[in-house]
Amino acid sequence: MTFEHQPVLLQEVLDLLEPACCHHIVDGTVGGGGHAAALLAAAPADAELLGLDRDDAALAAAAVRLAPFGQRAHLARCRYSRLEDAADELGWEHVDAVLLDIGISSHQIDSAARGFAHRLDGPLDMRMDRRERTTAATLLNQASAEELERIFRTFGEEPRARQVARAVVERRAERPWERTGELAELVLRVAGRPHERGLPAATRVFQALRIAVNGELDELAAGLRAALELLRPGGRLAVICFHSLEDRMVKEFFREQAAPCVCPPDFPICACGRVATLRQVTRKPVTAGAAELDVNRRAASAKLRVAEKL
Ligand SMILES: C[S@@+](CC[C@H](N)C(=O)[O-])C[C@H]1O[C@@H](n2cnc3c(N)ncnc32)[C@H](O)[C@@H]1O
Repeated sequence: MTFEHQPVLLQEVLDLLEPACCHHIVDGTVGGGGHAAALLAAAPADAELLGLDRDDAALAAAAVRLAPFGQRAHLARCRYSRLEDAADELGWEHVDAVLLDIGISSHQIDSAARGFAHRLDGPLDMRMDRRERTTAATLLNQASAEELERIFRTFGEEPRARQVARAVVERRAERPWERTGELAELVLRVAGRPHERGLPAATRVFQALRIAVNGELDELAAGLRAALELLRPGGRLAVICFHSLEDRMVKEFFREQAAPCVCPPDFPICACGRVATLRQVTRKPVTAGAAELDVNRRAASAKLRVAEKL
């Protein structure tokens, strides 16, 4: 299977990350290497890029895509929350730009064997890093009804989270969960509404499980802090999110780090001692234009935010 993935908001990332001024770039979610290749092409001839991914199939595709850049492209199988360790291995103390294009690639979602898609029957896997132990089946077969409800409600914003969680637990008393098709069928029966607006229930539940299996929100919280640490003053961080929970986390993080003093306005002098660590380059999230949406529907939910380290 070839690696099919169109990088989203590519021109916007290039405009805002300013690769022409970069010597060391980290792409924390290199995927098929689409953004990485464009960043390297736009950077000075001696600039280098470190691409990270948890998924071995993504790294294999990125290696092919970035081969024309030779020694300028470095790849590592690593979570982006550990990007400082990966940069350290190369002896990079600081970098000029970090990109996080989070979530999953079209390649992952279109591979039935990876178990991410409710429309394709496959094993209930959903691990980005297939060396990890916990799969979606593990959670469905072992987590309590309360834990499953929390996952479906928090990460999927599924209004019928309790009903779905109870049905999952009832069904596993008969036989263990194994296939995506079986879960999609159950969700449709318990939470599907034929003429509903917004995401279908199966999309919400599958997304919730994927986020839980891969600990995606914890990764994001740690990754934002790590990126800020690694950037040099004046360096830029660009984050693309596809999920409102994640976009909210980025927005809050940027707002907190950009706000210097948090003392009440009637304090005569600052008691909190806080200093701003970044400047928001994008006040509002950047979204895809009509031309991109015509060729890539996946871009519809993408939101890009960029900040500069002070
Ligand atoms: C949306 S795709 C990135 C596509 C890439 N920008 C391109 O142009 O091809 C997201 C990628 O990030 C990886 N990923 C998600 N969370 C990760 C994490 N915490 N650490 C490292 N890689 C992660 C996924 O495995 C996937 O390959």
